[in-house]
Amino acid sequence: MEALNVSNNVVQALEDFQIKTFQENLLTWYRENKRDLPWRKDQDPYKVWVSEIMLQQTRVDTVIPYFNHFIDKFPTIETLAYAEEESVLKAWEGLGYYSRARNLQAAVREVAENYGGKVPDSPKEISSLKGVGPYTSGAILSIAYGIPEPAVDGNVMRVLSRILYIWDDIGKPKTRKIFEEAVRALIAEDAASDFNQALMELGATICTPQSPACLLCPVQEHCRAFSEGVEKELPVKSKKKPPKPLPMAAAVLMNEEGKVLIHRRPSEGLLANLWEFPNHETLSQKGEQDAQLVNFLSEEYEVESCIDDHIANFSHVFSHIKWNIAVYTGKLMGEVKEADDLKLVNPSELQNYPFPVSHQKIIKSLFWKGE
Ligand code: ADE
Repeated sequence: MEALNVSNNVVQALEDFQIKTFQENLLTWYRENKRDLPWRKDQDPYKVWVSEIMLQQTRVDTVIPYFNHFIDKFPTIETLAYAEEESVLKAWEGLGYYSRARNLQAAVREVAENYGGKVPDSPKEISSLKGVGPYTSGAILSIAYGIPEPAVDGNVMRVLSRILYIWDDIGKPKTRKIFEEAVRALIAEDAASDFNQALMELGATICTPQSPACLLCPVQEHCRAFSEGVEKELPVKSKKKPPKPLPMAAAVLMNEEGKVLIHRRPSEGLLANLWEFPNHETLSQKGEQDAQLVNFLSEEYEVESCIDDHIANFSHVFSHIKWNIAVYTGKLMGEVKEADDLKLVNPSELQNYPFPVSHQKIIKSLFWKGE
């Protein structure tokens, strides 16, 4: 039943649709106007892969310097496959969603070991790689190999919901299939790479979420939302729950030699393997946070400490939670038992360790004052 539904939806949307002219208008516009982006210099599947993983949940402008640095550091499948995980996380530091980097390295290692270092070009093989979902697999297959597979992300759903007047909720996971069918019907078989990138480019530069520039749109004549004057009402997207606030307290603790205590997070879960200043969830009563911290540090790390000042608050939003971190400074009293995941380091060495953004802010505010 479901498959029928999907097909009916697309069939209806495509009635009277001028597919050939649409392809020509879109492709001509893309070829004349595409942005000069570093991952468009060649069609190396490895570089396309890295760029597509970075571009998930992150804006193009932010990604460009990270991409250039990452490719300088890990120019090939083999260099990334056999790099230290910590150096990969360091190169990813600040981009967020670090499981993307860990999965990318695991998948690249599999390509090095099981596919002779060549990114597979079949949907089945490429989709079996860690972190490669339907969007990424379609993006690599089409952009790097010219294979006419859909690459449907939120931008593409926005563009096509308007053009084809599709009112399904794009917040629901199963809706992506409707758009994949639409792309299969529309894609230029002999120009799949440019076609998919053109849809992405249109979404990024013209068919934007809030105020689409319909008067400049190369496919305006094909857009049913524009002709009905409802482009701003599409796509339909159900509201997500706002992230749950989580009060936290973190301590920057120094010993007598001026070294600070850092801790590596567990190898599973949120921000796995990144370093941080010792911290925990707290009750929100401010007055007791320092006593709670002293207790926590003693029980969790067997570290005796005294807390001095509350120096700052930082917050960081993840998809489901929001950390509100109260940052304290303090002193270490007595010995610290260092371990693989607990170290005393000079402040100047902090830059060698990958930290989550919220803890980088702590480092900047305490150790790079005035820079
Ligand atoms: N967003 C996702 N993939 C992209 C790409 N290849 N180029 C530009 N923006 C993108």
